[in-house]
Amino acid sequence: MASSSSSEGKNEEREPATSKLKKERLGWMEWLRGWFYLAYEMLFQRIMASHLQNPMPLPPLNDLTCIITGSTSGIGRETARQLAESGAHVVMAVRNTKAAHDQIKKWQDEWSGRGLPLNIEVMELDLLSLASVVRFSKTWNARSGPLHVLINNAGIFSIGEPQKFSKDGYEEHMQVNHLAPALLSVLLLPSLIRGSPSRIVNVNSIMHQVGFVDTEDMNVVSGKRKFTSLVGYSSSKLAQVMFSNVLHKKLPGEAGISVVCVSPGIVQTNVARDLPKIVQAAYRLIPYFIFTAEEGSRSSLFAATDPQIPEYCEMLKADEWPVSAFISQECRPTNPSEEAYNVETCFKVWEKTLELVGLPLDAVERLLQGEDITCKYGAHEKKI
Ligand SMILES: NC(=O)c1ccc[n+]([C@@H]2O[C@H](COP(=O)([O-])OP(=O)(O)OC[C@H]3O[C@@H](n4cnc5c(N)ncnc54)[C@H](OP(=O)(O)O)[C@@H]3O)[C@@H](O)[C@H]2O)c1
Repeated sequence: MASSSSSEGKNEEREPATSKLKKERLGWMEWLRGWFYLAYEMLFQRIMASHLQNPMPLPPLNDLTCIITGSTSGIGRETARQLAESGAHVVMAVRNTKAAHDQIKKWQDEWSGRGLPLNIEVMELDLLSLASVVRFSKTWNARSGPLHVLINNAGIFSIGEPQKFSKDGYEEHMQVNHLAPALLSVLLLPSLIRGSPSRIVNVNSIMHQVGFVDTEDMNVVSGKRKFTSLVGYSSSKLAQVMFSNVLHKKLPGEAGISVVCVSPGIVQTNVARDLPKIVQAAYRLIPYFIFTAEEGSRSSLFAATDPQIPEYCEMLKADEWPVSAFISQECRPTNPSEEAYNVETCFKVWEKTLELVGLPLDAVERLLQGEDITCKYGAHEKKI
């Protein structure tokens, strides 16, 4: 797999940051660099991705079962449609099941006459409820079937909205974009092991570059940092990268599970639904720069299906410190932000995440050994 020129050799240059003093926020150089990458992606993503076909050609995927969260809209909807049209068994894990069923009907009508009916089903999942995540995982695992690809796509960016908390007590960006997908990934490990070689694809964002995670203040309530939706969103995306780094490192090669984060690019979807109307109008006026949902789905589809991904992930495992694969919007391996390499914080994020989602610290190790675990949020449901 070819590496992007901007990232070549960076892994070797980086030093583990374990010796740093406790960091309170992103350094201004890192912050500036993050914004530079963001502006660069916005302006040049189409040029950088000009080698990619649209839609991305996919091989026959009849042997794959894929769960895609948030597949009623935007990137997730496109990803689900294309995987299903290539023959995969697609599970739309969504909170609005009626919208998903309506969508399937539309796809089946459009597909009619082109082959066997699409193999798609709907399961309810609300990431704002950790109990819903446990319920979903338990129902899926009870089938005792394989899962080949989990795409943690659902996400929110409530631009300009006041700070909100889920009923579990967590800041909503952190819960929907990081905590709930992390819980889902861990709880579905038994099915992913059955489906091995399998993959966890986390739809992340270039915005993680301007994020900072304070594990003592995941809800951003201490007053050390002023909450804005940008802080909430970027921190949640960075937390996801850091958690993925450790998960990737903890999964032994024999488990056959690849963990990949992807950046879809800057994409015209409903993610901007909370923007003021005038900004939304401006957003639509710059279509040249912004990807369509179909273009934005390419990095997810690539991470879910490219045959070289498992080998690339294995190669990264040989690194001394944890780094999971990160695939750019132009479908090339790249590096996440410098802060994502802060090993000490990565392990703190790992521990804090497991604590917040109500899992034991050795959850992954126990699941790998075939043991049952319980999650605080599904206590009444007994075993996972
Ligand atoms: N668009 C971009 O420029 C961009 C850039 C970088 C990264 N991303 C990431 O790409 C992913 C997909 O976003 P998108 O742009 O396609 O946005 P979108 O059109 O708003 O789609 C988001 C999906 O997530 C679902 N969702 C939201 N909250 C949920 C919850 N509590 N439980 C279950 N599902 C929930 C939504 O379902 P409902 O329809 O029911 O709300 C929707 O299906 C996100 O992770 C986003 O952060 C997007």
